[in-house]
Amino acid sequence: MTRKTVRTSINSPASLSQRVLAALSFPHPVAAYAEALSPRLRRRTSSGHVPATVVAVQRPTADSVTLTIRPLGRLDGFRAGQFVQLAVEVDGVRRVRCFSPAQSEHVEDGLIELTVKANADGVVSRYLYAHAEPGMALALSGAQGEFHLPEARPDRIVLISGGSGITPVLAMLRTLVDEAHIGRVTFLHYARRPAEQVAAEELRAIADAHSNIDVLTVYTGSDARGLGEADGHCTPTQLDALIPDLAEAQAWLCGPAALMQAVESIYAERGWSRRLHQERFGVAAGAVDEAAGGDVRFARSERFVANNGANLLEQAEAAGLRPKHGCRMGICSTCTCRKTAGVVRNLQTGELSSEADEPIRICVSQPVGSVTVDL
Ligand SMILES: Cc1cc2nc3c(=O)[nH]c(=O)nc-3n(C[C@H](O)[C@H](O)[C@H](O)COP(=O)(O)OP(=O)(O)OC[C@H]3O[C@@H](n4cnc5c(N)ncnc54)[C@H](O)[C@@H]3O)c2cc1C
Ligand code: FES
Repeated sequence: MTRKTVRTSINSPASLSQRVLAALSFPHPVAAYAEALSPRLRRRTSSGHVPATVVAVQRPTADSVTLTIRPLGRLDGFRAGQFVQLAVEVDGVRRVRCFSPAQSEHVEDGLIELTVKANADGVVSRYLYAHAEPGMALALSGAQGEFHLPEARPDRIVLISGGSGITPVLAMLRTLVDEAHIGRVTFLHYARRPAEQVAAEELRAIADAHSNIDVLTVYTGSDARGLGEADGHCTPTQLDALIPDLAEAQAWLCGPAALMQAVESIYAERGWSRRLHQERFGVAAGAVDEAAGGDVRFARSERFVANNGANLLEQAEAAGLRPKHGCRMGICSTCTCRKTAGVVRNLQTGELSSEADEPIRICVSQPVGSVTVDL
């Protein structure tokens, strides 16, 4: 089904007209988008990113910003739950990060909606929170990732999120609403307190309008007790009380590490892991190997550095190189390079690999001794 979506933005139902107005009234002839892009972003779009312009900005909570973005050209093939790579220039350096669009698969206006939580020490998220305004030039990749609903929608769907992890599952919920999905859907969201929750009004409106959709909010802050359907962090007892038929559902989960760990353990203990689909926003488990030795040779750029035990992407950046990358956690494969000598540890699996000539994702590859990379 591809009917035009009539839904609200992530912030509040009242903001739809403002969003449309902003998108229509801001003077954005196509040529002006390209003109607005810095030469650096324009040059790099050959890497598969398309130029894009921010057309509306809202700050739904004290630490998040929602960007409505118009790509120059259509980003086809988006499946709710997937992510895009966003490139933006921060202090003269082009930075790439992944964000999960929150709009339905079925919107026809071509606009992308991203909600970015400002991380206290984060380069890109803090920059976007502080500086994003209509007219800002960005670049976006096409949608990527395996975290999405199957074509044949399951009869029983559970969507679980915490904090900024709401974005991909909100896209799924909006998509199911647009499709008039008749199966039972439970949307379970964890936030510290009401003021930190995005899309609260829209979620309530969806639940009120659809008898097959339950929206459950759990507040974990001690100052928000009694305000949601349950209090405190996720436990087996809490989950069973909130969703008694959990065993019958396919579940999609995205949130902070502690929530993901709790839900993952419940599913693993019950032998249900195949029914749980997960997306992690956190960076790769990049424990630095303090005992690392040897040298890292970046052959094409003729640079040598002493192996400091960090992943190869970080070591390359520390050596002044700017390797292509996206997610920095082994998902998107953008950083794939050829290792031509040495042994690397895969930080996701712990496996060692000593093939003489092999493609590796440098963001999740830790050199074990001396290594040569074609970079
Ligand atoms: C597939 C995918 C989808 C994503 N979707 C979204 C989304 O919709 N909305 C959103 O807000 N973010 C999303 N993220 C996270 C986003 O890509 C960035 O990692 C995040 O915005 C931080 O980037 P930064 O440049 O501000 O921080 P960086 O400068 O990269 O990191 C600075 C510091 O913050 C820490 N840090 C970095 N990222 C995180 C994090 N996610 N949580 C906790 N600490 C962190 C680092 O360890 C480091 O110490 C997604 C990530 C992935 C992989
Ligand atoms: S940057 Fe995405 S896999 Fe390495």
